[in-house]
Amino acid sequence: MILFRKKSNLIIKLTNLKKNNFKIGLVPTMGALHKGHISLVERSIKENDYSIVSIFINPAQFNNKKDLKSYPKNLTKDCNYLDSISSDIIIFAPEINDIYDNNLSVKKFNFYGLDKFMEGKHRKGHFNGVATIVSYLFRLVKPNNAYFGEKDFQQLRIIQQLVIDNNIKVNVIGCETIREKDGLALSSRNIKLSKHYRKIASKVYEVINYVRINFASMSLVEIYTYADKFFDNISEIKLEYFTIAESKFLQPVKEKMKNKQYRAFIAVKLDGVRLIDNMELN
Ligand code: PAF
Repeated sequence: MILFRKKSNLIIKLTNLKKNNFKIGLVPTMGALHKGHISLVERSIKENDYSIVSIFINPAQFNNKKDLKSYPKNLTKDCNYLDSISSDIIIFAPEINDIYDNNLSVKKFNFYGLDKFMEGKHRKGHFNGVATIVSYLFRLVKPNNAYFGEKDFQQLRIIQQLVIDNNIKVNVIGCETIREKDGLALSSRNIKLSKHYRKIASKVYEVINYVRINFASMSLVEIYTYADKFFDNISEIKLEYFTIAESKFLQPVKEKMKNKQYRAFIAVKLDGVRLIDNMELN
């Protein structure tokens, strides 16, 4: 792998690659890489001539300073991990000042209501921060394809909207959530859980998977009552939200309709760690 810490050096490399018409894939990450990230990287390697993995903990998308400070990071480990996948990977791990020029200016975007509920509601300004860095990376790298995990489904939908709105020529590709054996969705935050809480964390999967299996036969009232009761019985987990929303515009569903796609979205806190997950229901 090649590691670039400065965008000026990355630009030189990219200019060379573009001259040769190479197809470029981008996998934006915040590091602390796990198998979920690697599945995106492997897909990018398959579909492009060169793959760039950005590793940048974007302060602009954290609405909680403590959360930002405690976000896991280990650049050496990440680089070794990527190198074990392919020696051709280009890693871009810039310093904050190289990106924000000492002036952390977050743009305000119109997401047409995609940001109104779930993460957008509970993490004020989060998606403006995400869209600021992702559109910056798109302008810098000008990738043919960019890969994002469905675990952050709302983020994926917002980025799909962002490229349409800003006429950015990139294919935004959503990739399936990778799960542990017990169903827990892979996340960089999982390593912050103690052994006891890590075991309990699979309950997050259990509840949405139950709703997925029984979606057709349950009313919305029954589903919401089930989810509330489920967590009432688990003192270690604090439910932040559980929402059934339509998959395209991400508006919470008032009434189930045929021919519409729905997803269950969930956010919880346990052991001081915030976890999210979502699943397609039909
Ligand atoms: O999903 C993430 O890890 C981040 O939100 C992203 C897309 C890398 C932007 O910082």
